[in-house]
Amino acid sequence: MADTKKTAKFTLDGRDFDLPVHSPTAGPDVVDIRKLYGQAGVFTYDPGFTSTASCDSAITFIDGDAGVLLHRGYPIDQLASASHYLEVCYLLLYGNLPSAAELEDFETRVTQHTMIHEQMHNFFRGFRRDAHPMATMVGVVGAMSAFYHDSTDINDPWQREVASIRLIAKMPTIAAMAYKYSIGQPFVYPRNDLDYAANFLHMCFSVPAEDYTVDPILARAMDRIFTLHADHEQNASTSTVRLASSSGANPFACIAAGIACLWGPAHGGANQACLEMLNEIGTVDRIPEFIARAKDKDDPFRLMGFGHRVYKNFDPRATVMKESADEVLELLGVENNPILQVAKELEKQALADPYFAEKKLFPNVDFYSGIILEAMGFPTSMFTPIFALSRTVGWISQWKEQLSDPALKIGRPRQLYTGETERDYVPVEKR
Ligand code: CMC
Repeated sequence: MADTKKTAKFTLDGRDFDLPVHSPTAGPDVVDIRKLYGQAGVFTYDPGFTSTASCDSAITFIDGDAGVLLHRGYPIDQLASASHYLEVCYLLLYGNLPSAAELEDFETRVTQHTMIHEQMHNFFRGFRRDAHPMATMVGVVGAMSAFYHDSTDINDPWQREVASIRLIAKMPTIAAMAYKYSIGQPFVYPRNDLDYAANFLHMCFSVPAEDYTVDPILARAMDRIFTLHADHEQNASTSTVRLASSSGANPFACIAAGIACLWGPAHGGANQACLEMLNEIGTVDRIPEFIARAKDKDDPFRLMGFGHRVYKNFDPRATVMKESADEVLELLGVENNPILQVAKELEKQALADPYFAEKKLFPNVDFYSGIILEAMGFPTSMFTPIFALSRTVGWISQWKEQLSDPALKIGRPRQLYTGETERDYVPVEKR
């Protein structure tokens, strides 16, 4: 628990209550209201948790006004340019950058768990071919608890460790299999001589009929996309994982819950929705029409890939992603991609519009990621599964942190009840 030197005074019906105030290592102070109900008999009300810290965490820090994102203290732009995904996984999981020997050992452990139980292939085959890969992933990841019994005991630190490695290692295999199944191609087994990102591209794009060589520049771009999505503090899917885990649920069930939450278009589903929106806009001359729709209170349309609950200046991940989009498209010889032109012009026009400036709406991580993924050859339906596999390490790190917290309690919010008060049951013939 953070430093506690101050108290906040709360007055209700003439009675004063002192509430401890915790000072974090960075970020705003936090008023501790845990004893408020017991002492004052009232709840606090905060739908959407806009002012509520749900836990202590030492993993990720965001300053939304300054556009800062730190993992274990290290800025995301430094990690995205100088580190790589598996090193960031180690950092998130264990708290520090690894030594060369620790990194090698970690990479070996992950690499040795990339295959999934052969019986799980049958499980995939139970799905319709046209299922969204996220639907398949929710099911298959949840089903891992039926295949890996020896790592479901959350009270055993070794089993927790094994489950963590298994999830990080197998998620690319599962995502790639969901994709292959959806396009009717054979599953491609992982290749342990390739690095994490290159192996994922291999499992998605190679076929048994011919040789496939992974372009190292594309593998690097893939790795950077994984890194930029690795963790993001207490967002909706991470909070879902923590809430599921607070009941003692097994890790595979918790991560499946996180995947389900991520799927929504306000969260991880925004990358698919954003590219679909850019395609629908199609040409720069139609941008004003869509900006007008986004501003119209009577139209539910929103600019996808725009806005963020926490970032109110810029999303540092979007900055790196935009640079990556330019690099990848140039590499692929499609720098004049019309959709990239639409995205850039849309960003320019929206940022110049007082509506977006006043509401502090900026491009988020999902605004440019879809353009890169599409240029790499992924269909839009794979964008959110790629986010899910990248975020798995964040979910797992937060899950492990939560389980080692002695103050852990089951998550159980209260409510502001607005329904009927008690009334007597009326038999059906008298209604
Ligand atoms: N386009 C148009 N107006 C918007 C947008 C947008 N993309 N986002 C927010 N607004 C408006 C909204 O209508 C509201 O206006 P008013 O105050 O007049 O009612 C105001 O801005 C505040 O919006 P909010 O919905 O109360 O803000 P929030 O913090 O609850 O929502 C958000 C954050 C990300 C869900 C929202 O900005 C949004 O729906 N964006 C589009 C979806 C998207 O890109 N999501 C990806 C987020 S980043 C990756 C991730 O977390 O997975």
